[in-house]
Amino acid sequence: MAKDKLIIFDTTLRDGEQSPGASMTQEEKVRIAKMLEKMRVDVIEAGFAIASQGDFEAVRAVANTVKNSVVCSLARAVDADIDRAAEALKGAAQSRIHTFIATSPIHMQHKLKMAPDQAVHAVKRARNHTDNVEFSLEDGSRSEFDFMCRITEAAIAAGASTINVPDTVGYGEPGEYGAMFKRLIEAVPNSDKAVFSTHCHNDLGLAVANSLSSVMNGVRQIECTINGLGERAGNASLEEVVMAVRTRKDIFPVETDIAAEFIVPTSRLVSAITGFPVQPNKAIVGANAFAHESGIHQDGVLKHRETYEIMRAEDVGWNTNKIVLGKHSGRAAVKARFEELGVIFETQDDLNQAFLRFKELADKKHEIFDEDLHSIVSSSAHVAHETYRLVNLDVVCKTGQKPKATLTLSIEGKEVTTEAEGSGPVDAAYKAIEAVASSGTDLQLYSVNAITQGTDSQGEVTVRLERNGHIVNGIGSDTDIVTSSVKAYLHALNMLVVPGAVHPQRDGV
Ligand code: KIV
Ligand code: ZN
Repeated sequence: MAKDKLIIFDTTLRDGEQSPGASMTQEEKVRIAKMLEKMRVDVIEAGFAIASQGDFEAVRAVANTVKNSVVCSLARAVDADIDRAAEALKGAAQSRIHTFIATSPIHMQHKLKMAPDQAVHAVKRARNHTDNVEFSLEDGSRSEFDFMCRITEAAIAAGASTINVPDTVGYGEPGEYGAMFKRLIEAVPNSDKAVFSTHCHNDLGLAVANSLSSVMNGVRQIECTINGLGERAGNASLEEVVMAVRTRKDIFPVETDIAAEFIVPTSRLVSAITGFPVQPNKAIVGANAFAHESGIHQDGVLKHRETYEIMRAEDVGWNTNKIVLGKHSGRAAVKARFEELGVIFETQDDLNQAFLRFKELADKKHEIFDEDLHSIVSSSAHVAHETYRLVNLDVVCKTGQKPKATLTLSIEGKEVTTEAEGSGPVDAAYKAIEAVASSGTDLQLYSVNAITQGTDSQGEVTVRLERNGHIVNGIGSDTDIVTSSVKAYLHALNMLVVPGAVHPQRDGV
């Protein structure tokens, strides 16, 4: 029997970005969007256009770039939001406006009567801009059923082609949440005119289970994010949803169009950009997801693969990490590989800078992997004006002695030498930087990841700095992790002065 299509709606760039500290620059969003498009994601929610000028520009940039996926912007059910979303989406080949109202009694105390009218007005207004309109009943899993039916029927009648009932606070339980969809679809007279959608948060670790249960009960769109990124405990993870549906074809009456071989590269890209590492035991994309430790398992896998493996690692993009380039590679090859990864240099100077960094790296490290190339662009992203630049770093670490760092920095083109002691070499280096920068920032996150395998791998460091409620992420990579740490810190300090790179720590919608 032919299966129904399950629409994959990715909200990494909108709900994912609402993860505290996961802010991304416009260039980074475009890079991720290109990967999502390559993966054949159906709908990319690129942001919440009215939230800030940065969000608006990012939605616009994604809309102007992506051709094969629908590009969507979130908008509250008010005219200004909807018009702003439409404005940002103007250049899109295919656009969707996603408008929403909170419908649970907790959110609705005073607006119960007006919500259906407001929903109708919002959907109609959005329909003036595009015929692809999604309406969400925020906190739907805790909403009163009859009221939900009324508002759903009204939204569909007004022209919404997708009805999304989010489990906004991650309170749903698979049986109950799935049954709610079945009842809703049966009770709403015009439900056949819309696709029903699920949007689950992972507060109880049930986001994927709730999403899949909804599919068994009539839902045909899942909203999800790469690596399960998202507000609080995150959203349903795209890779888990897609691979569950694909691996258990015997159970699920649906199929997706996702090109699964891009799952791992996309996961790595999102992790590198946001600085959120993927836990090793994370399903599908964790480093251990396909590693067999016990002797019995290894033996079984070697003899007969299906004994212990329900999926093939290469099908989701593991082991596609071929050595692509080395120190003898020329500019054209490097440029071509960057383009395959979705990185297009706007100016010759940008390409020259990236090629210079590539050559520096290739001198230290023979094999340059895709991840290394991503790190080259991430760590140089959006620093139009480098206030701080590392000229020289000298660290002394001896057993029994306090580590000491001496740095020469170029600050606005003027060289300054600074030194400090610390509890470790990184602490010493950061104290030395602060002795001259006095940035008034608070270090909220420091994380180190090996980008590829082997002891010659680059260590990629992410730091998150906060100042007056605003946060920036800095990324630095090098084969020496103290140097990567310094580069990441200076990158973050430089980002503090880049418009659009500083994100207010906002409460999600
Ligand atoms: O979690 C939620 O309810 C949302 C909506 C705005 C779709 O993100
Ligand atoms: Zn959400």
